[in-house]
This record gives sequence, C-alpha cells and structure tokens, in this order.
Amino acid sequence: MKLLRLLVLFLTVPAVAQQGGMWIPSLLSGLNEKEMKSLGMKMKAEDIYSVNHSSLKDAVPQFDGGCTAEVISPQGLLLTNHHCGYDNIQSHSTLEHDYLTNGFWAMSQAEELPNPGVVVTFIVSIDDVTTKVLEGTQSLSEEARQKKIQENITSLTKSLPKESWQENSIRTFYEGNQYIRFITETFKDIRLVGAPPSSIGKFGSDTDNWVWPRHTGDFSMFRIYAGKDNRPAEYSKDNVPYKPKHFLPVNIGGVKENDFTMVFGYPGRTTEYLPAVAVEQIVNVLDPAKIEIRDAALKVEDGFMRKDPQIKIQYASKYAGIANYWKKWIGEVQGLKKSNAVAIKRNYEAQFTQWVSKAGKQAEYGNLLPDFEVQYKAIEPYALGRDYFVEVALRNTELLTIGYRLYQLEQVYNAKGAQSFTDRKNNTIASLEATYKDYSKAVDEKVFEQLIALYINKVPKQFLPDALLNANAAQLTADVYGKSGLVSYEGVKQLLAGEPAAVIQKLNADKGYQLIKAMTAAYMEKVAPKYEEINLKITALQRTYMKAILELSPKDARIFPDANSTLRITYGKVKGYEPRDAVYYEPVTYLDGVIEKYVPNDYEFDVPQKLIELYNKKDYGQYGENGKMPVCFIGTNHTTGGNSGSPAIDAKGNLIGLNFDRVWEGTMSDIHYDPNICRNIMVDMRYVLFIVDKFAGAGHLVKEMKLVK
Ligand code: ARG
Ligand code: ASP
Repeated sequence: MKLLRLLVLFLTVPAVAQQGGMWIPSLLSGLNEKEMKSLGMKMKAEDIYSVNHSSLKDAVPQFDGGCTAEVISPQGLLLTNHHCGYDNIQSHSTLEHDYLTNGFWAMSQAEELPNPGVVVTFIVSIDDVTTKVLEGTQSLSEEARQKKIQENITSLTKSLPKESWQENSIRTFYEGNQYIRFITETFKDIRLVGAPPSSIGKFGSDTDNWVWPRHTGDFSMFRIYAGKDNRPAEYSKDNVPYKPKHFLPVNIGGVKENDFTMVFGYPGRTTEYLPAVAVEQIVNVLDPAKIEIRDAALKVEDGFMRKDPQIKIQYASKYAGIANYWKKWIGEVQGLKKSNAVAIKRNYEAQFTQWVSKAGKQAEYGNLLPDFEVQYKAIEPYALGRDYFVEVALRNTELLTIGYRLYQLEQVYNAKGAQSFTDRKNNTIASLEATYKDYSKAVDEKVFEQLIALYINKVPKQFLPDALLNANAAQLTADVYGKSGLVSYEGVKQLLAGEPAAVIQKLNADKGYQLIKAMTAAYMEKVAPKYEEINLKITALQRTYMKAILELSPKDARIFPDANSTLRITYGKVKGYEPRDAVYYEPVTYLDGVIEKYVPNDYEFDVPQKLIELYNKKDYGQYGENGKMPVCFIGTNHTTGGNSGSPAIDAKGNLIGLNFDRVWEGTMSDIHYDPNICRNIMVDMRYVLFIVDKFAGAGHLVKEMKLVK
C-alpha cells in the first residue's frame, strides 16, 4: 500500500508539472517539445511555427483586437466565438431581421455582410530585439529608463525592415527583460458568414458563464476578403476571399479523456509571478471591493430588467459586461483561497531566498521581497482609490461615465483650442445617441445612489473631493438626477449647443458635470500621482524579480512569460476534474444536457424547436458519436481572456475544438495556475459542424472545409 502510494506520487508529480504555461511559438524549447510529445503530440516544432514554410501560426489571427480566430478553409473562412462576433451580429440585426435571436447564415458569398472597422491580424514573423530596445538605457533612473525604452520602441517600429503592407509591433516579455518584434498583416474587409441563434451561441448566458458542465455553441463565422493580390485591402465589393498560407483541417474523429490538445491564440494578461503580498492584497482588498461595487450595480439592474422588458433589452449587454468579471473575480478569490495560493507563494519565496544566498546574489536580489512588502503596503490605499474611481466613475454609473467624456472634451478645449473642441464635440454628440438609446434614468439613478454611497463610505477620506466629504447619498442623488442635463440625450445636446466658451460655462454649471469633474480632480491630484510613483517602483522590482527567477531557477524550470496579447501556445490534455469532495466532472457534455437544461421561453435556457427535433430523431449525420451529440469539452490548457475563439488543436494539427471560457473553480489561473482544477472550456467542432450543416442547412460551408477522422 505504502509502496503503491509512493509510486503513484512519483508517477503523478511529473505529469502534473507538465501542465500550464503560455509559450511563445517561435521559442519553444526542447523541454516544451519533449513535454508535448509525452502528452501525445505528433508534430514537430517546425509545424507549429516556421518562417520558411507555412505552419499553424499562419491560420491563427487575432480577431478584432480582443479575441482569437482561425482560418478553416482555403477561401479564408474564419471561425471565432459567438461572443466575439456578438457586436457585429447585433449591429446587423433589426426587428425584421433579428440575427441575434434567430441566427444568420449567408447562403452564398454574395450574402455575406461587411463589418466596417473589424480587423483580423496575422503574425508573419517573430524575432528578439531586446538589445536594440535596451540600447542607451543602462544607468538611467527608472523614469528616464522607461522613457528611453519608449523612444527606442517608437523608432525601431518605424525603422525595422518589413514590407509596405505590413506592420512592426514590439512587445515586452518577462516584465521588461525581453523585447520581441512581430511583423503583422492586418486584413480590414471581414464579412459575417454565419451565427447560430443566441439560444445556441449564448445558451446558458450569465447563469452558465464561467461554469462547467457547459452546453453553449459559442461560435460564429466570418470570411477574410483581400485585394486581387491577396494582400490586405480596405473594404471593396471587388475584394476576393483571402487565400491563406495555411488553414486548419477539422478532425471529426472526436475527443476522449487524456487526448493531447493544444490551444493557439492571443491571451490578454496574466500576473503569474506576483509576490505573495500582492496576491494577498488582491484576495483581501482589491477583488472584494470591485465585487461589492458590481454586485450593487447588478442587483439594481436585475431588479429593473425583471419587471420591464424594454429595460431588459436596453441593459442586457451592459449587464453581461458587468457580470462577466464580477463573476470571474468571485471565482478567483475562492480559487486562490482554496488552492492556498498565498501560502504556496510564501513557500516559493523562502526557496527563492535560499537560491539568492547560495548564488551569492544578496546585493542584487536580497532586498526584493522585503521591498515588495513595503511598496505593496504603500500602494494599497492608492490602488483601492483607483479601483473605486474606475469602477464607480468610469465603468458602472452611466451619468458619471458620460460626464467623464464631456470632461475630456473640456480638456481638449483647454489644450488644443476651439476647433479641436468642436470637432470632437460633434463626434461625441453623434456617438452619445446610441448610448442614450439604451439609457434609463430610473435604472442609472438607483445604480448611482448605491455606488456613490460605497464611494463615500469606502474610499479613504483623504481622497474624496469636498463635494463627497460627509455627503448624504440619497440627497446627492436626488439633487444630481433632479437637476443635471446628463440624464437625457436632449439635456446633453442642450448643454453642448453653442459656442465653445459658452458650452464650457454651461457644463460647469451642471450638477452632474460638477460632480464628475470634482471626483476626477480629486483622483488626479490625490490618488493618481502617488499611485504612478509607487507603481513605477513595483514595476522595477517586478522586472528584477523576474530576472532573478530566470537566472536562479533550476535548469528544467518551466518559466513562461506572462500573457501580453501576443501569440502563444498552451498545451495539455482533455481532462475532467474534482470541483469538490466526492464530485467528479466528466470532460465531455452532450446534447442531452442541453435538453436537461431546457426552460421554454426562458431568456437564458430556451432551446430552438429545430434543435429539439434533431435531438428527438437523433439526426446527427456524420457528427454524432454512439447515438449522442457531443457539445463541449474541457482540458488542462492554460488560457485567459483573449483566448476566446482560439483553436483547440489535436496531436496532428487538426482543429477539434473552439476555446471560449474557463471553469469557475479555476478562474484564478491568471494569478496561480493549479493543474488540479484549472480547465479551459471548448465547443466540440462536431457540434459546430452539426449546427452549421444539420440545424442551419448551411452544408456548403462544411464542403469548403477539409474534414479528417
Ligand atoms: N466568460 C467568458 C469570457 O470571459 C465568456 C463571456 C461571454 N459570455 C457572457 N455570458 N457574458 O470572456
Ligand atoms: N471568455 C474569455 C475570452 O473572452 C476566455 C477566458 O477568459 O477564459 O477571451
């Protein structure tokens, strides 16, 4: 028994250590390759990234800045998430053609819908430019150093060789210890090809968001169009479908537990190398504050949305936006606590201290950890003040958010004069029309009352503007919402009408405007400068800490750079997990689960009639498996925001799934990845094809693809 235990321990430890990490595809090490092969990968590193011949990276662009997509046909057909294409699907929707509700399918290329402003960016090549970026920065003060680095980056971005239709982009890795240049190509004519109804693409909505078991068909399809020379071009009806250097074949052979998977994409931001003291602050101070603010806003909105269908439509997207990270932070705090992240970090730091002394590097690295303690203590009130300002004023109270935009207008007037002011004013007036279309004074007023009360009570007193010191939230609310012009589009237009000087005068006499201006001024004077000052010190410490970790860790340590919206690969296995005692979650869900969750006419859990019919007839075509239709699966790939729409790729480089979320218990993976409970969630490609082919009758799209088994 004992021996067996020991054996199991030895056998499982290395397997666990092979998980996690977001790696730069051009810099995969022998160790990465060995791990990937031991997990079952059948490709060479050259197949993943190569500058000499086409490789996987040529099929995986960033989608519109924030998501990932993949090319899945020789005619530039592009797959991403429904939630990534959501805004575009929405903007083509009208009451007569409600594509959000009913879905949209172009039955020919002529029917595909252009999306002005949407872009898709491919990586052409990746190379290290650290020496060039750091030139002339030695022995500069931190502030001067940052400035010089920025200057170097700006000039290198202009001067490094590339083709005329390409872009240079230089990004930092390992917190300022490495700089990498990407040559990119950005396509600007991206047309909507298809989207399932929200009852499939957003099935489960906010209730199921960040949750496993999941049953969402979170996908949509676009097509990249290029000029006749196959290069990026502005929209033109004469553009032609882009011929990609590589597209992903789709494997409909299916997945099972322990299969190798790899996710390729553009993860946005992680902070995996924070010291324990920083994680403690997130868990105990910053996340709880943000959760409390959003909790209050969501409760108010939800109350109104349940009673009033008009408000439900107006606030659906805003609500989902606020709820997404509110829910993520709650999971993050629980996960960090449950996985003992702080204690694990403290242990690591004890070990780190030993490395430092063994290497005789006390002079260089010996003060790092104590300095972190000092600086994080020092920044705490400022970080809190900043989070309150961002969450209350800039994010969740509409009147203040709108007021802030007008405040920026006044800044333009002061800095650049009347003409710039008028140009920007006209843009602001135009864009505010859409804002007010979805604005309810009643909702916003209640949100304001709750959030301003939190602001008054929770923001450290010394950071409050006079207007909020000892203010009474209810009275202030009645005053602002009774008198401010910002509570309606008409009111704002009146405030903004007339000569620049007169407009500025009117604004400054407005109750709502006065408040946001006072809040901003207090923030700018009392919080921001000190926050920036300490943050600069923390940035420098973090850079040195990262350098020390890279230098002193054992040779085989797996140290990956934090996510920074650049192309990465992460690999792992299809795997279930144990969310809590005695409960095991299987790694695959089926259409049966959709039917189990079905609530007729519910805004989250309704199911289209056609899908129910297909289910009843078990009419799954070539996509089913033993009479069942797979829907989603999970794996140990280390992903984050921005990985939405990323391809999940099998051992041979075929597409098997589409990444879109993570499991609730593992949302702390941005700070501390625990292979026991961190899982990414993917839609099974067989479900995607089944919906396209059997549900939507758009089999011509499947014919474009290359299917393998
Ligand atoms: N949680 C996923 C990601 O962060 C999906 C979000 C979209 N879905 C939603 N119900 N809000 O972005
Ligand atoms: N849902 C996220 C995204 O939109 C992915 C994640 O955070 O796991 O990128």
